[in-house]
Amino acid sequence: MKKKLKVLVLFDGVQPTPIDADLSKEMKTEEWQTEANVMAALKELDHVSEHLAIFDDLDLVRQKMESFQPDVLFNLVEQFKNNPGFDQNIVSLLEMQGVPFTGCGSTGLTLCKHKGISKKILGHHGILAPNFVVIPRGQRIGGPRQLKFPILVKPVKEEASYGISRASFVQNDEQFRERVAFVHEKYKSDAIAEEYIEGREIYVSIMGNTRLTVFPMRELVFKEVPPNEPRIATYKAKWDEKYRKRWGLEGQFAENLDAALVKEIEKMCKDIFRLLTIDGYARIDLRLTVDNKAYFIEANPNPHLAADEDFAQSALKAGLPYPQLIQALVGLGMRMPRG
Ligand SMILES: Nc1ncnc2c1ncn2[C@@H]1O[C@H](COP(=O)(O)OP(=O)(O)O)[C@@H](O)[C@H]1O
Ligand SMILES: [Mg+2]
Repeated sequence: MKKKLKVLVLFDGVQPTPIDADLSKEMKTEEWQTEANVMAALKELDHVSEHLAIFDDLDLVRQKMESFQPDVLFNLVEQFKNNPGFDQNIVSLLEMQGVPFTGCGSTGLTLCKHKGISKKILGHHGILAPNFVVIPRGQRIGGPRQLKFPILVKPVKEEASYGISRASFVQNDEQFRERVAFVHEKYKSDAIAEEYIEGREIYVSIMGNTRLTVFPMRELVFKEVPPNEPRIATYKAKWDEKYRKRWGLEGQFAENLDAALVKEIEKMCKDIFRLLTIDGYARIDLRLTVDNKAYFIEANPNPHLAADEDFAQSALKAGLPYPQLIQALVGLGMRMPRG
């Protein structure tokens, strides 16, 4: 029989939240679906679980660990003080305390978040990724140098497509400079400019520490986007249901990929997982060109875990129902040597 565990689930707090906050109302909303799904799964698995929302007070973690004495932490934290740049710092603290937790360690989180560093590492190991340049703030914005248009300009560290819109897709020097300046000023972020890779948008979910399992691939299809328009998972494409409907954006399992290509992509994604020192689980995002070349776009350690999101959907397709997936992630977290 499976051991009954004490699991402390760490949430993002969007404002200062007391240690024993009642979040049941929040958890009924769409924004808290992941939290609600994970708590429900842990209950179904018969573990004893409690949650703690972190806003800006890490001492709460210490207090909660002392009072609850969890066997493992389930980490759903993506930001600190509403700043998504700090998720790896929170994990660093957990690593120093020697407490087991689910998902990725601080190094993997740091490497994946920086869209320039991750691509440099992968490029060094021969993994195909778009050509890019990083344009730091405070530096005169020149042209895109050796890059070929069209180009996509993004904040170098953001996530969830913050800062990515139709205007990120630039086709000449003027648009390029304008968008880079916009990213610098509006997002207070260094910018990365990447050659735009035309192709299918493929999401590959992987789970494991050393032995890795790749789940069936998902694809974001753009059914109603006119042929001459770029196909980009912009902020609206991810989060605005009306917009998704209008442009026919749908997540589905990737079809018509031949077996050899699937094998090749799986191997590539396992390599990426290891090279970027990811632990536990991740979703690797790729673009697949018409001539079947797979380009790395981004690795997402600790990807969204809501039951209806790509990661859980892929796991389910592989025969892992949601509670069993959560159980597997807990097990991997407990077995992962840290530090
Ligand atoms: N070089 C690129 N070529 C084509 N599409 C891209 C490229 N970079 C990003 N995209 C599109 O923009 C989306 C978001 O980019 P991504 O780098 O994953 O940012 P985020 O971390 O905000 O999710 C991708 O899912 C893809 O649709
Ligand atoms: Mg992404």
